[in-house]
Amino acid sequence: MLEFKQNIRGNVALGVNPIGCKQEVLNQVNYVKSNGTFDGPKKVLIIGASSSYGLATRISLAFGTGADTIGVSFEKGPKSARSLGTPGWYNNIAFREAAEKEGLVAKNFVADAFSHETKQDVIDYIKNEFGGKVDLVVYSLASGRRNDPDTGEAYVSSIKAIGEPVVGPNIEMQTQNYYTQTLETATEEEIANTVKVMGGEDWQLWMEALKEADVLADGVLTTNYSYLGSELNRPYYGGGTLGQAKADCDVKAETINDLLADVNGKAQVIVATAVTTKASSVIPFFPVYCIGLYKVMEEKGTHETPIMHIDRILRDMVYGDKAEYDEMGRMRPDSWELDSDTQAKTKALIEKINAENFNTDLTAYDLFVKEFSNLSGFDVDGYVEEEVTLEDLKALEY
Ligand code: NAI
Repeated sequence: MLEFKQNIRGNVALGVNPIGCKQEVLNQVNYVKSNGTFDGPKKVLIIGASSSYGLATRISLAFGTGADTIGVSFEKGPKSARSLGTPGWYNNIAFREAAEKEGLVAKNFVADAFSHETKQDVIDYIKNEFGGKVDLVVYSLASGRRNDPDTGEAYVSSIKAIGEPVVGPNIEMQTQNYYTQTLETATEEEIANTVKVMGGEDWQLWMEALKEADVLADGVLTTNYSYLGSELNRPYYGGGTLGQAKADCDVKAETINDLLADVNGKAQVIVATAVTTKASSVIPFFPVYCIGLYKVMEEKGTHETPIMHIDRILRDMVYGDKAEYDEMGRMRPDSWELDSDTQAKTKALIEKINAENFNTDLTAYDLFVKEFSNLSGFDVDGYVEEEVTLEDLKALEY
């Protein structure tokens, strides 16, 4: 019988509990079901579908609107007792099993979304087995590197400041350490490379390929999750390299809008709220912002996990009548996070946080760690231990 051990290196989770991942997916399915059904798309492609925002999108649409889904992700399966693969691998399987039980199509592509081959494979599948068209394309990819599909050149993104270095507090979960970190400034090349990896170029390439192949339904919508944050994190997010990448998505949304005009389509940037994910927990200083913000939002009853946030976005905003937009036409479900009282209280709380109290009830540290653990199948509500062997896991098909 395998023993599943949580293994955190810095703020990166290395261990996985496949049974816990399955339970976490089922918890999210139940959350969506408890909110009832809504009218929405029926044929959906999600790029970056195996965790956090992308997975939540897939679950909300499958179990909220009865959508058939194609999910693209880059995950690893089990190799040995010491190398059991990545949580997203098991999330893909748990999602497919749950969706198929309801008679829904749930096709997983585990492949590099940046490559031309993956795009072509997905297009062939849409044409031959998925009814020929998709009515929603969700781009929810987060990656630290990208190989250019034409030149093969590898680009690596950097999370760095622009202009001035940033000095501030950060938390390391592995050692429960609160420490001062300096974030250096990026070079022009590092900024450009971050835009190349996390900007909108690949989103545009996907939409061009899908349009060219005539697999976009009339009125197709494509969405991209962005983050703007507030003055509390602007020096290292909005004003840093990641902010440049997100700004590039705004520019590419315009280009995609033009591209989709003749199929009456639309590209929509959705500025989402701060949540605990594999990607966000390695952003310097961000965990400190989160443990302050979550504490305030919990007290106000506005704290959301990815499934709560995304289900609200899709149900109430994208396919409902409660959408809020900014002057650039971006959808703004992050208004709860940016609420002025929430931000003022978060600022005041963050100023009180120090090495002695960061992991006490003063903050939402415990909640942050629980949400982080849940991502790898640990500390999951409703979890029941099961006897599982490596062979059992290897036999699971995505
Ligand atoms: P995540 O790390 O949980 O998920 C990323 C997904 O991308 C996974 O499904 C992964 O398998 C997939 N992926 C990565 N590289 C790939 C590749 N080469 N080929 C195919 N799939 C690949 O990330 P998270 O946090 O859910 O982020 C998704 C989007 O949401 C990002 O654009 C992020 O900036 C945005 N966002 C995140 C916020 C946060 O607080 N976490 C807040 C607002 C927006």
